[in-house]
Amino acid sequence: MLSPRIKLSKLGPQFSRIVAGAWRMADWGWTPQQRLAWIKGCLELGVTTFDHADIYGGYQAEEQFGEALALEPGLRQHMQLVSKTGIALVTPNRPEHRIQHYNTSRQHIVVSAERSLRNLHSDHLDLLLIHRPSPLMDADEIAEAFHALHQAGKVRHFGVSNFTPRQFELVNSRFPLVTNQVEVSPLFLDTLHDGTLDQMQQLGIAPMAWSPLSGGRLFSDGARETRVREALSQLPSIGNAPADEAAYAWLLRHPARLLPITGSSRLDVIRKAVSACSLQMDEQDWFSVWVAATGHAVP
Ligand SMILES: NC(=O)c1ccc[n+]([C@@H]2O[C@H](COP(=O)([O-])OP(=O)(O)OC[C@H]3O[C@@H](n4cnc5c(N)ncnc54)[C@H](OP(=O)(O)O)[C@@H]3O)[C@@H](O)[C@H]2O)c1
Repeated sequence: MLSPRIKLSKLGPQFSRIVAGAWRMADWGWTPQQRLAWIKGCLELGVTTFDHADIYGGYQAEEQFGEALALEPGLRQHMQLVSKTGIALVTPNRPEHRIQHYNTSRQHIVVSAERSLRNLHSDHLDLLLIHRPSPLMDADEIAEAFHALHQAGKVRHFGVSNFTPRQFELVNSRFPLVTNQVEVSPLFLDTLHDGTLDQMQQLGIAPMAWSPLSGGRLFSDGARETRVREALSQLPSIGNAPADEAAYAWLLRHPARLLPITGSSRLDVIRKAVSACSLQMDEQDWFSVWVAATGHAVP
């Protein structure tokens, strides 16, 4: 089975419903050939969209991905690349950063996107996101940077990540955004209830869901984690699928049309995310996970 495809907004882009995240790639300790095999494995599953950020792996992950892609440059035309900008980390390779901070200046956005392109061995990004909202962000300046990158053919679409509905509205009033990439999982329900996903549904924009397995915490032995995992693995409407597959099916059941971003190095886990796309969870099963996560019945 292949991942279905989905259009994020009426402007596009067309992505795979399951997106492969590259945040942890630098931790996998792989050779370029192993990274290439993983990329090809994702593409064979129809997982054609890859999620990056300038800062992943201490500013190293995009370069590692690009190094693998350079072994078979023809693969670029079969994939969509997402990157992010706006967080400045204190690391030896950024000596000018005295403190971890946010930078959403025009200069930073443009320079960071251009660097991502060089590192990824690509001539364009399909989507660029402002990684986190900054209290100092100037929506007009962000829009100017987006216009410049779009006009230069360097970035096709723009969005944000971890923005509240009001912050989304602010930037969207200056430049049309195509997604808000937010945390949502059976262990993290805030964005289900604080208006974030409602706004996406209202605007007809598909949100992207990061840490769909709570960064692996779903498999730890805490009391809440165990309760949620057990609830996930006992859902008759999806044939008692394993907990990880069920977690993806739970996210995919949401009407906002979430795109789960996998974080696993293992193609088997990514395959389960793809199989979850063909499962149809009923309301009662969905709520049994919600009840396990919140620890109480719906009022
Ligand atoms: N926009 C943002 O602010 C933001 C923030 C965080 C992440 N992201 C994006 O979202 C992507 C996914 O986030 P994530 O990596 O936290 O996703 P995740 O899928 O929730 O967590 C992945 C982690 O869980 C482990 N895992 C998966 N299945 C497991 C299992 N059955 N048992 C035990 N451990 C398991 C993986 O290890 P294995 O490799 O061994 O499977 C990996 O360490 C990132 O790559 C990044 O692209 C965005």
